Amino acid sequence: MKPIKVGLLGIGTVGSGTFNVLKRNQEEIARRAGRSIEIAMVADLNTERARELTGGTVEIVNDANLVVNNPEIDIVIELIGGYGIAKDLVLKAIANGKHVVTANKALLAVHGTEIFKAAQEKNVMVAFEAAVAGGIPIIKALREGLTANRIQWIAGIINGTTNFILSEMRDKGLDFDTVLKEAQRLGYAEADPTFDIEGVDAAHKATIMASIAFGIPVQFNKAHVEGITKLEAIDIKYAEQLGYRIKLLGIARRTPMGVELRVHPTLIPAKRLIANVEGAMNAVVVQGDAVGPTLYYGKGAGSEPTASAVIADLVDIARLATADPENRVPHLAFQPDAMSDLPI
Ligand code: HSE
Repeated sequence: MKPIKVGLLGIGTVGSGTFNVLKRNQEEIARRAGRSIEIAMVADLNTERARELTGGTVEIVNDANLVVNNPEIDIVIELIGGYGIAKDLVLKAIANGKHVVTANKALLAVHGTEIFKAAQEKNVMVAFEAAVAGGIPIIKALREGLTANRIQWIAGIINGTTNFILSEMRDKGLDFDTVLKEAQRLGYAEADPTFDIEGVDAAHKATIMASIAFGIPVQFNKAHVEGITKLEAIDIKYAEQLGYRIKLLGIARRTPMGVELRVHPTLIPAKRLIANVEGAMNAVVVQGDAVGPTLYYGKGAGSEPTASAVIADLVDIARLATADPENRVPHLAFQPDAMSDLPI
């Protein structure tokens, strides 16, 4: 079978991880996908750096439109981030009949319904495992592994930057700004770190999980969002003395009045597993009616952990794209059903 050709939009932290892991594990990945997966084109404003990172093996352009309009490209990976240009490019790629893989939680949380409607109309797939909890396959768990369940609630540490900050402040007594700078240096923080520390990034991710778990449209604007900027070292110390840890949790819960969606710092008894999730690690607990509680733990940010999720989506698409398009179930898209609104 001929290779599936991929165009990469943005070769920063996650893009370079994706390129490197695909190259390093190419044989295993090709075997699992049923065909080889080839990054044929990369668009990045910094073409020189892109050339260095790819070692001159790939066509490099600085105009992403050249990728989404290229008839040779089967899948577009969008790693630009943000709502503006990324949205235009994703919609253009879909309109051109290409499958899309994205790590862009902000885009999906705010414009997901429009994007998935467009994808369903064109019978293409939009996959977004990397958008929530980095390397943890939580989207696949919610959509596939737990598909028999009526999900009751989800609660998770889904922002690595804030968990890193809270852990370092507690363990090393470091101040907020110093740790935030370190999180930026390590590639955990968003381009605009206020999204991390104000809870917006976690709310984007909780919105996406809630949409899948409860079959509701994405409604980020209905989420209660509170970050960690009002916390002080003394709060963390007092919590510790009382036998608690403070964690920024994203919570989505089914209630008789609809789905509750919120992000805020939470006191968790220190003995609980999730209270001991440290550094940039993420953890998500999902309660299903049949399975009971399940816990997912792993690296929620960073180059190769996030690349691991991007590539899982590439493999999924490579496998599904070979199925008869008439009978393909577009299970990589949101499928809003039960509730049309999200009262808070
Ligand atoms: N800024 C995000 C985090 C990156 O800190 O978790 C991964 O989505």
